[in-house]
Amino acid sequence: MTQSLAKPRALTVATSWALPDRPVRDLRQFRTQGGMTGLHKALSIGADATIDEVDQAGIRGRGGAGFPTGRKWRSLREAIGDDDAGFVVINGAEGEPGTFKDRPLLRDNPFLVLEGALIAAHTIGAGRIVVATKARFDSALASVRAAIAELETSGLADGVAIEVIEGPDSYLFGEETALLEVIEGEDPLPRNLAPYEYGLFTTSPQLGWSAGSDHSPGGPTIESANPALVNNVETYAHVALVMRHGADWYRTMGTDESPGPTIVTITGDVQRSVYAEVALGITLRTVIDDLAGGPRVGRSVKAVMSGVSNRILSAEDLDAPLSYEGLAGVGGGLGSAGFIVFDDSRNMIDVAYAALRFLHVESCGQCNPCKTGTGAMATALEDVVFGEKTIDELMRILVRSVSTVTDGSRCYLPTQSQLLITSIFERFPLDAHERRARSGDPWSALPKLVDIRDGIAVLDDRASHKRPDWSIAESPVWLGRR
Ligand SMILES: Cc1cc2nc3c(=O)[nH]c(=O)nc-3n(C[C@H](O)[C@H](O)[C@H](O)COP(=O)(O)O)c2cc1C
Ligand code: SF4
Repeated sequence: MTQSLAKPRALTVATSWALPDRPVRDLRQFRTQGGMTGLHKALSIGADATIDEVDQAGIRGRGGAGFPTGRKWRSLREAIGDDDAGFVVINGAEGEPGTFKDRPLLRDNPFLVLEGALIAAHTIGAGRIVVATKARFDSALASVRAAIAELETSGLADGVAIEVIEGPDSYLFGEETALLEVIEGEDPLPRNLAPYEYGLFTTSPQLGWSAGSDHSPGGPTIESANPALVNNVETYAHVALVMRHGADWYRTMGTDESPGPTIVTITGDVQRSVYAEVALGITLRTVIDDLAGGPRVGRSVKAVMSGVSNRILSAEDLDAPLSYEGLAGVGGGLGSAGFIVFDDSRNMIDVAYAALRFLHVESCGQCNPCKTGTGAMATALEDVVFGEKTIDELMRILVRSVSTVTDGSRCYLPTQSQLLITSIFERFPLDAHERRARSGDPWSALPKLVDIRDGIAVLDDRASHKRPDWSIAESPVWLGRR
């Protein structure tokens, strides 16, 4: 069956573009749906025209920042030159709380993602593709491995080696430079240099103690920066679709600045948790009401958080268009389109605590102000949850920590804590005064998703068991209490 090109621009629930109605089980099935025609098109028109097409489509990376994909590919192609010493990395770490889209894509449409990565490899001049995902994502891993095996026997991957890396259950694993560290066998510690400047297994000069490379006998011998292209799983899927259907088709969906579809995840205080593919540009209210059934009976939406990377939104923002510019226009951001909904029974101190605790625990500690600043904020919030700190004391600690937490930071994590905490206190100033000791459950405020099945979100309760030194306890760990 060929995918319909006549999808309406507005909300679609059961239909899909990258996310199939039914899992694509093998290469033959994928090809009957038009699969691999994008790769053939890219090979026939060549690298420059392929990048032009991606540029014209206006694809923006779906990993969170929305960086223009064509621009990234062009700079990688220039950085790699003619020696094919580059790498294509598929970021399938999916660590953002409230987001569940890359796992279903890898599980149910692995050939589409790999087709996009093969297009990237031929376009930027890379001889290796690395699929980096978490060891825990077993069903996604099984599908990807089976798809790679089929691609290799089919000859479609000739000239490009594809390997899979199973990474740790760590938020920083998804940060692109930490991802490269993990691929090299190290811990997920962000580097100073971007992947296009300092890629994989490089022997070129480096800055920063964690940016190690193997200089041992038998180790890699390429004397180059080996630039690596890192894109999100969904971004590669979009490239394959654009090369199959064309940039104009892609632009029939979404807005001028945010073209195409996206997979949204809606969880939290809603009737049913859901992930579904929609055209960008529809409103946040529409996806919450029509896809997730709206808030629970008798309740109303109080706040919405798009992961832990953006400012929090309030009920007044629900009519904002779901697009990069639409959500930025109300002070938020699209992120990876994972929306956690909080209803009017929530006190936002619980949300602030859950988010800051998460960021503190996941921070790697390479930059002292980040680890200690997120820790000071999370511990002070926890004290308020336990009724052991006054609001004035809390505010003094927050003000001091917010101003220094990003000092000398290697990655964006402490900025996330800054954005979240300031927006929560700006938008919900009364909640700190109204929070009574032990009146709510902060653990449930931050869904780390394992799966979404039949409207139910399966949560990873180990997130609350993780200690700031990354060890895992038997039971939930409070920061200031032993
Ligand atoms: C703390 C942190 C965690 C991140 N986690 C992920 C992740 O799980 N998956 C992902 O694709 N990008 C993640 N990113 C963004 C990546 O660093 C990078 O921008 C992205 O993979 C680029 O792909 P794109 O251009 O296709 O969006 C994270 C960034 C930060 C700062
Ligand atoms: S900013 Fe924080 S999370 Fe990022 S590298 Fe530094 S300590 Fe680690």
